[in-house]
Amino acid sequence: MPHFFITTAIDYTNAAPHIGHAYEKVLADVLARYHRLKGDDVFFLTGVDQHGQKVQQSAEKQGVAPQEFVDGLTAKFVALWDKLDISYNRPDGWAATTDARHKDCVRAILTRLNAEGHIYKAKRDGYYSVRQEQFLTDKERGEDGEFGPEWGEVVFIEEENYYFRLAEHKQWLLDLIDRRADFVTPEFRRGELRNAVEKLTGDLCISRPKSRLSWGIEFPFDPDFVTYVWFDALVNYISFAPGFDLDFNPEAKPSSAALRFKDLWPPLHVIGKDIMIPAHGVYWPIMLKAIGFTADEIPPLLVHGWWNIAGAKMSKSLGNVVDPDALADKYGAEALRYYLMSDIATGKDADFSEERLVQRYNSDLANSLGNLLNRTLSMAAKYREGALRNAPFESWGIYLPAVEKLLPGHQFYGEFQAFDLGGKVVPVGQVRNVVNGAAKTYSQVNETGHYMGSFQVQIALSAVLECATACNGLIEIAAPWQLAKDPAQAERLDAVLYHLAESLRIIAILISPVLPRAAAGIFAQLNWDKPFRLEDATWGGLPDGHVLGTPTPLFPRIEIAPLA
Ligand code: MSP
Repeated sequence: MPHFFITTAIDYTNAAPHIGHAYEKVLADVLARYHRLKGDDVFFLTGVDQHGQKVQQSAEKQGVAPQEFVDGLTAKFVALWDKLDISYNRPDGWAATTDARHKDCVRAILTRLNAEGHIYKAKRDGYYSVRQEQFLTDKERGEDGEFGPEWGEVVFIEEENYYFRLAEHKQWLLDLIDRRADFVTPEFRRGELRNAVEKLTGDLCISRPKSRLSWGIEFPFDPDFVTYVWFDALVNYISFAPGFDLDFNPEAKPSSAALRFKDLWPPLHVIGKDIMIPAHGVYWPIMLKAIGFTADEIPPLLVHGWWNIAGAKMSKSLGNVVDPDALADKYGAEALRYYLMSDIATGKDADFSEERLVQRYNSDLANSLGNLLNRTLSMAAKYREGALRNAPFESWGIYLPAVEKLLPGHQFYGEFQAFDLGGKVVPVGQVRNVVNGAAKTYSQVNETGHYMGSFQVQIALSAVLECATACNGLIEIAAPWQLAKDPAQAERLDAVLYHLAESLRIIAILISPVLPRAAAGIFAQLNWDKPFRLEDATWGGLPDGHVLGTPTPLFPRIEIAPLA
């Protein structure tokens, strides 16, 4: 069985969950569910980045121990991911950096890299921002040559720290970027990363003296220091990977994990654009290389864009941060998931708008898909007591401009089944073509980066929603309520009802990674409770004589006013 290992950036526990965090989690969840649908054995890892200066300071301010502080925030993240149906592997797929397993792994890596000469200690001096707890370089100077007010008090200090050798691997990394087209998605980010690596100089400071930062992982060979940010956080991807053992044996298969590490690695890392350079695109590949990973074992990066507000960054100081928890409570998890997946192109930025969330839900889910389900089941109940007949009828090979009514803007060519109703052509079979076409392109990986296989969830979704539009178009053209009045049209009415119900079955399969609850709801109403896979999204699954369930509104319209 093919394996799919997916991780997302671990969220900082110095801040509450944010719509950007929710987006990343939903995107990764959709990809994980899509791979499960394909039959892959998925391991989905996510978690929280719990150490660091900001946590230490926030905890101090609240007068609580740092662990207590992060535990409180971690609980909020966990509760939100539950609410949003984020299907990370539980409990093993939760990476919390204060976990003993993680600390042991970070220490083992530091010990090994130190023994092999990748780490050295050096004294450096420079300008240091007390507020931001970092050394400043000339890049941080303003046009007047001074450090701006955002840095607070700036002092000149001299400090000893540990450094990880970075720059000597520059050519190796450039070669990797050039050779591996899959390394960074979208493609334009690969170019950005290459440019950044071209400029790489110097080594990476990986420690902080304990006198300044105590809330971190202590160096195994020097108790006066803790690791600093990335050498701790990035390691989560291996410390929580199933089968990873501290002797770095890729063949190892610890008793608790069914898989060898080597069977699963490398994962797809889903990260935001802000942490590609330098963390995931420079530090991490080089860290892995130093640990002993080959260029082909360096994890590919799916780099998503950001949700903004009217083109501007969301920030606490502007008070415009969107709270995913409140939105999920107000509109439901599925409405939020649908919006986050349909209103952004993976890799690009988008503007968050609550009005758009409501509009998209009402037009795509309530009016189009929900209505289709309701009309189909109501008509089947009314005219056929729910029973479907997969009856044959006349077949034409045809191109008809009139058929465009099914999907405005589309031109249909080729073979499809239709019938003539007193001069009106009813293109029943065209619905089947639209649905089969959507199922076929859904998984596709193509040059323009379309569809699920290329992470373009919004395009896959719109192909699925077009099926609902085509079905609603068929209802308008065929007018089943008229067919039902004439016993001579019985077979045609059966054909229309079958096409609608069968389309809904396939739509439910294709939409299930994004809307798992709605998919289950459609299946329940279709009275079709069989487990399903992507390969079941082929025409003809509902057997002749199948009896549909009773209609219940699946996506009630949202009539409430948006949040203030
Ligand atoms: N802790 C680090 C990651 C360490 S991974 C080894 C971190 N945490 S974060 O909480 O700041 O961000 C977590 C993820 O959320 C990042 O991938 C980041 O890009 C994403 N987002 C934060 N704000 C965002 C938006 N406004 N929009 C979309 N995603 C953004 O970075």
